[in-house]
Amino acid sequence: MTAEELARLARTAGERSYSPYSKVKVGCALEATDGTIFLGCNVENASFSMTLCAERTALFKGVSEGLRRVRRVAIWSDTGIFLYPCGACLQVLSEWIDDGDVILVRDDGESKTVRFHELIPHSLSELKDRLT
Ligand code: THU
Repeated sequence: MTAEELARLARTAGERSYSPYSKVKVGCALEATDGTIFLGCNVENASFSMTLCAERTALFKGVSEGLRRVRRVAIWSDTGIFLYPCGACLQVLSEWIDDGDVILVRDDGESKTVRFHELIPHSLSELKDRLT
C-alpha cells in the first residue's frame, strides 16, 4: 500500500470521529507488518477524561484482532495542522512498533512523514526489556 493510500484511509477513519465536545476529528490507519490495516477514530464522552484517541482506538481494535507488530501509522485531523500523536498514544504504540514511518495528514491533503523514534526516542524500552 502506498503512503497516499494509507493517508486516505486515516481520513476515512477520521470522518467517523465521535467528537461533539472538542469538535476535533482525528483518524488513524495502522499498517501491521503483514500488511493488514486497522482503522480508528477519536471517541469522546460527556465524562471528558474517558475520551479515547484515534491512535489507541485503532491499536486496541487491532491487537484484539491479532495485530502484533505495527509497520506504519497514518494520522489525519481536520484541524488544519499536522496533528502529532499525544504522549499517551506514543507510549502505548511503543509496545507494538519497533520504528517506522508516522505519516501526518492535514485536511487539505498535505502530508509530512516523521520516524516514530523521533517522537518518542526512549519510551520504556529498557524497562520493557527487563520485564520480558
Ligand atoms: N486526539 C486524538 O485522537 N489523538 C491525538 O493524538 C491527540 C488528540 C483527540 C482527542 C480529543 O477527542 C480531540 O483529539 C481533542 O484533543
